[in-house]
Amino acid sequence: MNVKLIETIQEMLRFTKDAKHRNLSIGYVPTMGALHEGHVSLMKAAVAQNDIAVMTIFVNPIQFGPNEDYEKYPRTLEADLEKAEAAGILAVFFPSAHELTENIYSFVDINELQNNLCGVKRPGHFRGVCTIVSKFFNIIQPDNAYFGKKDIQQLYIIKQMVKDLNFPVNIVPCEIVRESDGLAMSSRNRYLSANERKDALIISQSIKKAITLQQNGETSPQIIINCVREEIAKVPSAKIDYISIVNEQMQDVDTVENKNILALAVYIGKTRLIDNHIIGEKLCF
Ligand code: PAF
Repeated sequence: MNVKLIETIQEMLRFTKDAKHRNLSIGYVPTMGALHEGHVSLMKAAVAQNDIAVMTIFVNPIQFGPNEDYEKYPRTLEADLEKAEAAGILAVFFPSAHELTENIYSFVDINELQNNLCGVKRPGHFRGVCTIVSKFFNIIQPDNAYFGKKDIQQLYIIKQMVKDLNFPVNIVPCEIVRESDGLAMSSRNRYLSANERKDALIISQSIKKAITLQQNGETSPQIIINCVREEIAKVPSAKIDYISIVNEQMQDVDTVENKNILALAVYIGKTRLIDNHIIGEKLCF
């Protein structure tokens, strides 16, 4: 295999120093592994737009709550390395939690943008994300970093963090990649049984129905949210965690307009899935 597997911070720092010394632009894709086509699209963009592309695979303990799925999160290194290699990634940084997150006393946190949606439902989650992404930015020093729009709140938070803390990195948002039937790709889709996989379709279908309503002129967030709620209620295994329409500051809106985001988190059985649509963008499913 040509892709280089790097497992220590020291070795990764050496790799970065060498790339900088050779004046190579670095594209960076942060992941927790269990790679799917969504990740592949980020990798391909990073490879196409930079001299070299680097990926991290790290199931980050500090972004999981005590009752979340840290232990059972899928870990599929061999298959991930094959996908990375096929996409043209040069190096995969795969550090240990021991070296990266144990015994650290400094954290990166953000106000405002996390007072809604997953920020409220998963307390401490974005502190864990911001801290780990900051560490990776410092170690890898990328020119461009690639984040998917499926984790829309994460994307906006990282953009704000980069601006606030003056990280010299350009954040490149990438489109949500969906299965042919509309289900947004997620590493957590692997948890779904065959029946739950069918049930999970209600998430994208309810978005589609609500966006059609909005495109027909509806501007009331409550009416659009109720449309999603009623659709999801048709599936007994689905339990709504939240449905909101927010602006780019992640605040609930009074009137729906372009660039607002219809965002939802829904449990299908025990699996929590998220999805969203940015109002005004094309519905591709
Ligand atoms: O989106 C993810 O997979 C994670 O939150 C990230 C950005 C890799 C940080 O652990």
